Amino acid sequence: MSADLHGLATGLLRRFDPEEAHKLAITGLKLGLGPRQDGPDDPSLAVELAGLRLPNCVGLAAGFDKNAEVADAMLAAGFGFVECGTVTPLAQAGNPKPRLFRLTEDRAVINRMGFNNEGLEPFAHRLARRERVRGVVGANIGANKDSEDRIGDYVTGLSRLWGLSDYFTANISSPNTPGLRSLQTRAALDELLGRLAEARTALAADGTDYPLFLKVAPDLVDAEVGDIVEACVAHGLDGIIVSNTTIARPETLRSAQKGEVGGLSGAPLFEASTRILRLFHQAHGGRLALIGAGGIASGADAYAKLRAGASAVQLYSALVYEGPGLVQAIKRDLTLRLRADGFTTLPEAVGAA
Ligand code: FNR
Repeated sequence: MSADLHGLATGLLRRFDPEEAHKLAITGLKLGLGPRQDGPDDPSLAVELAGLRLPNCVGLAAGFDKNAEVADAMLAAGFGFVECGTVTPLAQAGNPKPRLFRLTEDRAVINRMGFNNEGLEPFAHRLARRERVRGVVGANIGANKDSEDRIGDYVTGLSRLWGLSDYFTANISSPNTPGLRSLQTRAALDELLGRLAEARTALAADGTDYPLFLKVAPDLVDAEVGDIVEACVAHGLDGIIVSNTTIARPETLRSAQKGEVGGLSGAPLFEASTRILRLFHQAHGGRLALIGAGGIASGADAYAKLRAGASAVQLYSALVYEGPGLVQAIKRDLTLRLRADGFTTLPEAVGAA
């Protein structure tokens, strides 16, 4: 399909209920109808992220491909890496519908999906069937809503997917699983990261190892940032994804659905998530890698995240409005911005702001 047709398809999908539209998009991608990038990325966009060699720094954020069905299609569309999940050990239905809302005037989304997913087994089988050379795919792991041992669920995810995924993200920042975000407090975080580190050491005994990231909320108070960084460093984590969706509702929102309960993402999340990213950059002092997410819809947005301290970025909500062809436009613009500022490689721009 040409770029025009993809634009048309994205416009048509927006006429459907948001969750139906998402299902149709996944079906289309599975059928091979997604965009395909011709040729390699500009070398200036290549980056090494916690030892992962990415052809470009623009990733697909978790939540789009919860069941690891279309990772290769999204890599072919031009993403430099794809994060599948959140996957929980057992399949779960998530919250009652409707639970996904477009805030069109605000270029935003509110979701309260609640980790609807098919569980670890189908996820693991899909990852096992794919050819690893097609690109970097990470697994975003979480806990079942009714689990009696939530931390154990993260360990189960890590263990089951070890050897199948190129990296792991422990997601403790979804606002839609009650109590999950309390894992961000220091004592709970030390327990979670301690158990994950112990499991990782045992799994890595055969010489394999995979980066482990933590994904945080943008709704942290400034003092929590230092604690999270120190806990991550103490337990040998490789990096932090900043950030998940927000429970805040900025005054500027205009859409009728702004009062829906859930996590807000897209353009109105950009400022808050970039501010907190900057705090993480100041706090880690080169000890961790940062991945910036939240409201990226253009090359300028991606560039601002890099300059604030991210080594790579992720996006999701902008795809709802622009379609998967957006990634190529972002990369083109990013290449021009790097060149205009005299950078020949992307790492030179990281934290330059
Ligand atoms: C998400 N996001 C998300 N994150 C995560 O770690 N696990 C998940 O399962 C989901 N699910 C999910 C569903 C929907 C519908 C949306 C819009 C988002 C959060 C996502 O990965 C990202 O961190 C935020 O959305 C911020 O980026 P954008 O969307 O502003 O580019």
